[in-house]
Formats: sequence, structure tokens, C-alpha cells
Amino acid sequence: MFNDTVVKEIDDIKSRYPDRKSALLPSLYVAQREFGWLSSEAMESVARALNVPESVVRGTATFYAMFRHAPAGRHVIQLCTNVSCMILGAEQLVDFLKSKYGLTPGGTTEDGRFSLVIMECIGACGTAPAMLVDTDFHDNLSEKRIEEILEKYK
Ligand code: FES
Repeated sequence: MFNDTVVKEIDDIKSRYPDRKSALLPSLYVAQREFGWLSSEAMESVARALNVPESVVRGTATFYAMFRHAPAGRHVIQLCTNVSCMILGAEQLVDFLKSKYGLTPGGTTEDGRFSLVIMECIGACGTAPAMLVDTDFHDNLSEKRIEEILEKYK
């Protein structure tokens, strides 16, 4: 299921670790990047590439909140609502995303442009509220700033 480029990327990841299981998380990230989410087939591909049992791959993939198990929008917003972000208005930003974009936690906009995931602390408490859009970090969020940021993601 992986193309040759991805197989080589996972081989490179494997070469960095003495134990194949240690390559599991970065390999799952590669699979999610390639397919947009971790389907059964994607997890089987990771198991084959690393030569580890599928049960180990599935157990790991379902343990961590950052892995998706259903198709997502073109861009995934990961908004922190933990303590610092909550105190500085993250819950109002969740409401704003719902009213402005029709986007609810765990959901995807009707046009498939955005999905929203609520995250625990992403390590930016000093400049909260904060979010990731795909792999891009954004902080000091406000409703206006979110509108400006999301305009760049088509
Ligand atoms: S609580 Fe949101 S970044 Fe730490």
C-alpha cells in the first residue's frame, strides 16, 4: 500500500532505532500524512513495513489522541482548550468556530475544508490560546486572528 518513497522513508526511520517498535510512532505519523487518517489498511501497511504484529500497531494508534481513525478535512485544526487556553478564551473560540464555520469538535466542515480536534496542552501556555493547523503553529488567538489565519488554508 505504501509507495516506494514511503517505504524508503520508513526504512530510514527504522534505521535510527535499535528496536523496530521504537519506529512505530514516527511511522504512524508518516502513514497518517500519506492517507489523511489511519484506516485498517494503513495500520496493516505499518505493521508490514516494521514487521511488528498488527495488534501492536492498532493498540498504539488507538491509544494516542493525535492519530485519526476516520477521514478528515483538507486541513486539521487542533485547538487547545486546556487550562491556560481555557482561561484566555479557548472555549469561546470553539463556539466561534461553530458559529462561523459550522465546525464542531470531532467534526468536519460541509465543504471538507477543515476538521476540528480539541487538544490538551500543546506547550504554548505563555501565549495562549494556541492551535495547530496541520503542522503550523498559531498562538495569541482571537476570533479575528483565527479568521485571518484560516483564510490562508483553502
Ligand atoms: S494550555 Fe493551551 S497551550 Fe498549554
